Amino acid sequence: MASSSKVVNIDDLRRMAQRRLPRIVFDYIDGGVEDETGLARNRQAFERWRMVPHYLTDVSQRSQQTTLFGQNYASPFGIAPTGLAGFARPGADLMLAQAAAEANVPFIMSGAATTSIERVAAAAPRHAWFQLYVSRETAITDDLIRRALEAGIETLVLTVDVPVHSKRERDWRNGFVPPVKPSPGCVLDMLRHPAWLGTVLRHGLPRFENWAPYAGNGAGARQIAAFFSAQIPFTQTWHDLERIRRQWPRRLVLKGILAPNDAVQAQRLGVDGLIVSNHGGRQLDAAPAALEMLPAIRAVLGQQMTLMLDGGIRRGSDILKAWALGADFVFVGRPALYGVAADGLAGARRALAILREEIDLTLAQLGCADLALLTGEYLREGW
Ligand code: FNR
Repeated sequence: MASSSKVVNIDDLRRMAQRRLPRIVFDYIDGGVEDETGLARNRQAFERWRMVPHYLTDVSQRSQQTTLFGQNYASPFGIAPTGLAGFARPGADLMLAQAAAEANVPFIMSGAATTSIERVAAAAPRHAWFQLYVSRETAITDDLIRRALEAGIETLVLTVDVPVHSKRERDWRNGFVPPVKPSPGCVLDMLRHPAWLGTVLRHGLPRFENWAPYAGNGAGARQIAAFFSAQIPFTQTWHDLERIRRQWPRRLVLKGILAPNDAVQAQRLGVDGLIVSNHGGRQLDAAPAALEMLPAIRAVLGQQMTLMLDGGIRRGSDILKAWALGADFVFVGRPALYGVAADGLAGARRALAILREEIDLTLAQLGCADLALLTGEYLREGW
């Protein structure tokens, strides 16, 4: 089995993950929605910006530390929530949580995670945030919030951009939509990935562990998946947000905001931070990239609101571009998942280390010794 220790960049991890995973799982992670134009746009949005180096400054000591919600982090990025990570590798959520805690960056566990809130919070007590998918039943939403509170979670992330199951065409063709029924081609392909298949046979199908208590006594992975899937369409309005705001006394973050007016409304309702996001190009294909919307959202909110962003980040320089355009912090989804799929905990660690090293080298190249000093002056819009 190849080791990720010599892997040079995130794209190498992606290729390693692609070799190890059967197509049905790799496509679920890697894919977008419909024509995947949003997915492509997430990369183009970063590629449009150039970085202008400033020379003859002392960059022998460099810092990329930052403070977010009063907590000091080693780097200005964390791990975005990704559901069903257990299909990439059993225990993936815990590996991601551990890698994040070791690197002193936050890990957002998904509302569709294959590990429970309690286990992730125990593995990364100061670094785990919890992303909530609301239930159709208020009592279940309330119970998830209660569990997050009791587990000591400090930051609750409410994802707002999944009003329906979106049209992810790779998944439709492969049969990776509820109820999951792999196409004959995908079954054959799984047999050609014995290492992956062996772990699934040993550990069983991954389960939405957080939802298990609500799916009925003795429900198996398939019944729990059906129960979770029946929660979508998520019927969520600003009234639900107000209710959750009253219920959750700690930090509340909205994820998936793109419209400046929505951002203003969220601020008015007492949200503590926003993750500007198009869900990694997995929901509305025509949506703009988060990076495109960031300046307009910053302009309407001012400096008081904590603004974060995700989508399309594959290089340390991407993180610095987002920062220079006004983000206080960013998250990566697929880069960490590729890492954990490719090589477990070591791969997750490698993904984070690669981004950290690239930030460090780019700061040096820019002649900017401290992230705090990086402004729009270092950017220039290309063609
Ligand atoms: C996601 N994303 C996501 N978001 C969320 O709020 N809850 C979730 O359960 C999931 N699940 C999920 C699964 C997979 C496989 C992917 C790739 C993404 C979206 C995620 O949090 C984030 O917004 C994007 O992944 C960011 O884009 P990049 O970094 O993957 O390009």
